This record gives sequence, structure tokens and C-alpha cells, in this order.
Amino acid sequence: MLQLTSQDLSRIKAEALIIPVCDDRNLFRSKSLRLWAAKLEGIDSFSAGPGEQLDLYQPEGLPLERIVFTGLGASRKLTVEGLRQAAGKSIRRIRQSRPGTAVLAVPETNLPDDLDPSLALTAMAEGAYLANHTLAVYKAEKKKRPLKAIRLLVASGQTRTFRGILARVEHICRGTALARDWVNLPANDKSPRDLAGMITRKARQAGVATTLMDASQLKRQKMGALLAVGSGSRQPPQMLILDHKPARSRETLALVGKGVTFDAGGLNLKPTGSIEMMKIDMAGAAAVAAAVITAARLGLKKRVVGVLPLVENMVSGAAFRPGDIVRSYSGQTIEIGNTDAEGRLILADALAYAAKRYKPARIIDLATLTGACVVALGDRIAGLFTEDAPLRELILASSAKTHERCWAMPLPEDYEDLLKSDLADMRNIGPGRWGGAIVAALFLSRFVGDTPWAHIDIAGPAYTKKAQAYSEAGGTGFGVRLLCDLMEDL
Ligand code: BES
Ligand code: ZN
Ligand code: ZN
Repeated sequence: MLQLTSQDLSRIKAEALIIPVCDDRNLFRSKSLRLWAAKLEGIDSFSAGPGEQLDLYQPEGLPLERIVFTGLGASRKLTVEGLRQAAGKSIRRIRQSRPGTAVLAVPETNLPDDLDPSLALTAMAEGAYLANHTLAVYKAEKKKRPLKAIRLLVASGQTRTFRGILARVEHICRGTALARDWVNLPANDKSPRDLAGMITRKARQAGVATTLMDASQLKRQKMGALLAVGSGSRQPPQMLILDHKPARSRETLALVGKGVTFDAGGLNLKPTGSIEMMKIDMAGAAAVAAAVITAARLGLKKRVVGVLPLVENMVSGAAFRPGDIVRSYSGQTIEIGNTDAEGRLILADALAYAAKRYKPARIIDLATLTGACVVALGDRIAGLFTEDAPLRELILASSAKTHERCWAMPLPEDYEDLLKSDLADMRNIGPGRWGGAIVAALFLSRFVGDTPWAHIDIAGPAYTKKAQAYSEAGGTGFGVRLLCDLMEDL
């Protein structure tokens, strides 16, 4: 869907040409683009501020329907994310009227020192691709259709170097779109078995090896925590393993993703207002699956294993109860304080399994784990928990590059007391509400042994109620771009 072009403006046939403009300097070298961008100078109603847009229909002498000028503000304050959002907003604007082809002019000059043309190209391509992803709606008449093609207009002579960049962006954004599609599916169309099947199909197409453990195998493996969470549902739990194993790879990276296909809360049933969106409680698993699949498509040289516990947390006569004590895969026993704190239970078994079975150099888990993390950081920033300083820095660096924001949170030793149980090795909740995201992370830390580990609580950013610059309302695919960037650097 992403293409490169370096054609002369007068020969570009498309529904729309998007020209980014700053309020102080012209971003183009090529003469015709310079001239078109300069036409806006002196127009009072358009000041080229961030987010501002202006349509010019039937531009003279060009075979285009319209030009969309998109404001970026001051050139020296320009950022990668500013370009991503500007591209995204412009694509969303065009998509509203009719599908076709859009051409985006990539800035060539007067960029800040840390923003070279290849980064500008990456940012605009990402914003455009992601903004063009549409919800797979269950309606007879599909109103919002994606554009057929997005072309990035660059100066001639650069197309060769830029082609590789664009291919990478396309792979990664396709991964994000895949995760979004899975998150957006209603829970009645993604039972643990359904979801395992869908992920397996995509993984095999990409050359990723898959292993599925069904409920009887989970019993044989003594995954008591995962089985307890699944006990209230008619849909049995599953554990899906994805293995991208290139020849001669040495270290293994293990990625673990929370895959609760619907979180009703169990017998600690969620109330109205909290239960409605809980089909998104598998966003961690979706992001991890998409990241492993993308690693294979990109041909990454490192072994990456995805461990996905898939389960539905429901209410029934067979459901696990508050007060139950379950034996986890690690052998540690857990007293259930609340059946709605189920994510940490399934992750306990998945983390312990990943550590024991694959002896990875590092484990990273992604999970829509706690409402408390959303209270702490809002719904656009994830909580990052790790004791491993180098890993923390790498994750924060990828986070900054991709603008999938993470904020480092503490794992204080003295809070461990909060998990004490009179009867079992630990309880799955603390005695009160405070520090809920930290308590959950401390719980997880007990199941990774000595393996360097990071936990990312994505309960906030996994999903957006309102459309954003380059995401429709719904699943955001948060984590896929972050993990892809990280896997390249590890
Ligand atoms: N899936 C929820 C967390 C969540 C909340 C995700 C909001 C997305 C948006 C998780 O399983 C949960 O219910 N956590 C409880 C834990 C509590 C019982 C200790 C919570 O956050 O309230
Ligand atoms: Zn829950
Ligand atoms: Zn949950």
C-alpha cells in the first residue's frame, strides 16, 4: 500500500496531494513544491499551526482533485511525532470523502538537526498507513473505506535508499493493524480457541512455528493458575506458543502477552461501566503475536518466542472462587483474593513456563493488567516495571522513537508484604486499593526466577474511546511498533 514516487508534480495523478507547511520556513527544495507551499503565505485564515489544515480544490495546472495543506507550526520545534500526526490527520480527512490515492510530500530541508529526511519519511509513512487502517465493521454498508494507495513523494535520486525504509515501515504498521483487528473483534467471535486459530494461521503464513496446548495439556503441565481462571467459561483455555527461530540465532527473547478474550471479572463480577469494553483484555497477546509475526516478516536474526495464555474470565457454577487456593505452574500456591485480578494469574503460569522451557536472555510481558495503572498515568501512557537498568533504557529509547509512551514505575521491595497470605505462598491482590499497578507487577516478579524481565502495563493505551490522529476509535495496536523497534536493537 505504501509506494515511493519522485515524479514531477505536473504528472502526479491522485485524489489528493498533502503538503506539510511550517509557519516560518519552507520545507521544500524542489521548485514546484516550494511554490505551492509559498502560496499560503499571507492567507490570514491559515497560520500553519500544528493540526491546522486547508484544502485547495482543483489546483491550477495539476491533474489533482485537491491539495491538502497540513500545518506543522514552527520548523525548529518540529518532531517525528508531529509529522506522524500531521500525516495521519490528513489521511483521515481525505478518507472521509472518497477512497483513491493520496500523495504525501516529504519535507526536504529546514528540518531540525535530529530530524533527517529519512526519519521524516518514516514518520509520515507510519502516520499515513496507520490512519488508513479502518475498523472491520459488521455492517452491510461499509461507509469508511481505506485509500487504495499512499505514495510518498521524495526528491529524485533518493528513491533507492528510501525504498528499504518504506518496506520496513509497511511490515511494522501491518503488524499494528493486525493487532488492532484482533482487539476489535467482539468476544463472541474470538474464544480462546478461535483466537489461537486466527493467530496460528497468520503466524504460519509468515513462517513462524506454532504450538498449541489445549486444556488437557495444560492440566498435564499443571498450569493451575491459568486453568482456574478458565474454569468459569464454556470455552476452554489455551496456551499458544509462537517461535521465530532463525538459523544460528544464539540468545532468545521471550515475549508474553495477556490474552483474556473477555474479562467479566469472574465471581467478583465487573459492574456496568467497567465490563463493556472487556473484549480488549487480550490486547497484550495481540501485540505480542503481531510482533513475533512481524519479526519473521522482517527476517530478524534473533530468536523470538511469544507465549500467549488465552482464556475467558466468566461466571458459572464451575467458576473459581474468592478464597480458593490454586497451585501455579511454578509450584507456588496462590490464595485468590479477587477473581477479577485474573491477568496476573494467567501470566504467572506463562512467565514461569517461558523462563523454564526457553531459558531466554530476557522476558518482556505486555498486559492490560490494572485499572490502577490508568489512574496513575492516564490512557495514553503505559507503565513500565523492571529492575534491569539496561533493559529499561532500551525500552524507553524504543518508546521515545515510536511514541508508544512508557513511564518507568518502581518495584519497591517493602511493598512485597502486601501480597502476604496466611494460607498460601501469596495472595493475588493486596489488602487495599493503593498502588494497584505496582502490587500486580510485584506479583508477576515472583514467577520469572532470575531471568531479566520487564513488564509493561498497557491497560490505558491499548484502546482509545475517541479517534486519534492515526488511530480510529478501538484497539490501537499499542506495543507492536515499540516491540519491533526493540527487537531490532536487542
Ligand atoms: N482487565 C482488568 C484491567 C483493566 C482495567 C484493563 C481497565 C483495561 C481497562 C484486570 O483484569 C482487572 O480487572 N484488574 C483489577 C484488579 C483488582 C481486582 C485488584 C482492577 O484493575 O480493578
Ligand atoms: Zn480482571
Ligand atoms: Zn483482565
